[in-house]
Amino acid sequence: MGNLKIKPVKRLEGSIKAPGDKSISHRVVMIGALAEGRTEVEGFLNAEDCLRTVKAFQSMGIKIEGMGSERLRIFGQGLSGLSEPGDILNAGNSGTTMRLLLGILAGQDFSAVITGDASLRQRPMKRVTEPLRKMGAHISGPDQGNLAPLSIRGGNLSAISYNSPVASAQIKSAILLAGLYAEGETSVTEPAKSRDHTERMLKFFGAEVAVNGLTVKVRGRPKLTGKTVSIPGDISSASFFLMGAAIVPGSRVTVRGVGMNPTRSRVLKVLEEIGAEVTISNLREDHFEPMADIEIKGAKLRPINLGGEIIPKIIDEIPVIAIAACVAEGESQIRGAAELRLKETDRLRALATNLTKLGARVKEVEEGLIIQGGRPLMGTEVDSFGDHRMAMAMVVAGLVTKGETTILNTDCINTSFPEFMDTLEEIAVY
Ligand code: S3P
Repeated sequence: MGNLKIKPVKRLEGSIKAPGDKSISHRVVMIGALAEGRTEVEGFLNAEDCLRTVKAFQSMGIKIEGMGSERLRIFGQGLSGLSEPGDILNAGNSGTTMRLLLGILAGQDFSAVITGDASLRQRPMKRVTEPLRKMGAHISGPDQGNLAPLSIRGGNLSAISYNSPVASAQIKSAILLAGLYAEGETSVTEPAKSRDHTERMLKFFGAEVAVNGLTVKVRGRPKLTGKTVSIPGDISSASFFLMGAAIVPGSRVTVRGVGMNPTRSRVLKVLEEIGAEVTISNLREDHFEPMADIEIKGAKLRPINLGGEIIPKIIDEIPVIAIAACVAEGESQIRGAAELRLKETDRLRALATNLTKLGARVKEVEEGLIIQGGRPLMGTEVDSFGDHRMAMAMVVAGLVTKGETTILNTDCINTSFPEFMDTLEEIAVY
């Protein structure tokens, strides 16, 4: 298990490119595999999580070329072109792989078993297995099918209208993907809008998808056709540098080609609210997912109050937003974020533990954090708790601590952003 030692920087300066969007990379493999014909992908995220998805489809008979690079070629076999895997499918650390794949497996006329690493095996799956069972899938596993390893036998699905108790793109996507295999219209309504990459991509590949407020409907048994897809940069990965530039005075950083999907880009509003100067240029909206270049200039930061419908739209950025809240003088609040307890680690607990160690005043409440910002952060030893976003958020904290920060167990960064430290080095001025 690797550790990282981070030295404070004078400033961040320069122009970098974000790695491919993780959510879109998973989806292009899945939907490309279910489409007829070839899908050519550019900008694929070549990181552990997405490679788990690639391997899962390869073991179900899908030919995928270009593994290990940003260019993939997926030879889709149509909705009924998957074959029974000869071994257990392993989603590793990737919740998206497991939950979305369960949706697809629910539509297959064969049996499969899916497992994951120690973290993923503790994360709740009932949120998807329950609606998939309602559609007709047979699923069993520990804790009444709430935990992996899960065994699933699909086929013969019926369409449902599902009211999701949680605003989660993974739940919504699993049901919509299963809905491809059900006669008629499957719909999902969520309490607040979550990222809509699945809806956009299904439409792009030829499915009939209708969005009405918080409800998404898909018509079953569509003909999906292979496409050429250019994946934008991941705004969640970019946020580590954007927020890093915001918290280090005198910084000026541009991240090029970042995805600007409105269900993901609210972190830019947060950056503005805390006082950073945000400039968006080169906006390209002609694609199925918009993208732009984003420039951030650091400034004196203000505290922030976050809660309600914005939370699912910044869910992956909250760890690094919490770092900015420690720097901004005054009280910041993050509320309604209980979902963070169910990520790769309990992110509320991990943030409270690490930030307190660094000298911040942080109170962990049931659904969030209350941070009294403005105290200097002191370099010390913190832990990633096996969570890539916690590791990268701590690296960002280390840019402004007094003295060196040691972060334990940082190999997990490879799940979403293997080039993270190299990219940081491109813009760090010591
Ligand atoms: C994701 C959805 C989010 C997010 C995760 C990726 C996706 O999870 O946290 O990193 O690709 O659909 P939830 O939908 O469970 O909130």
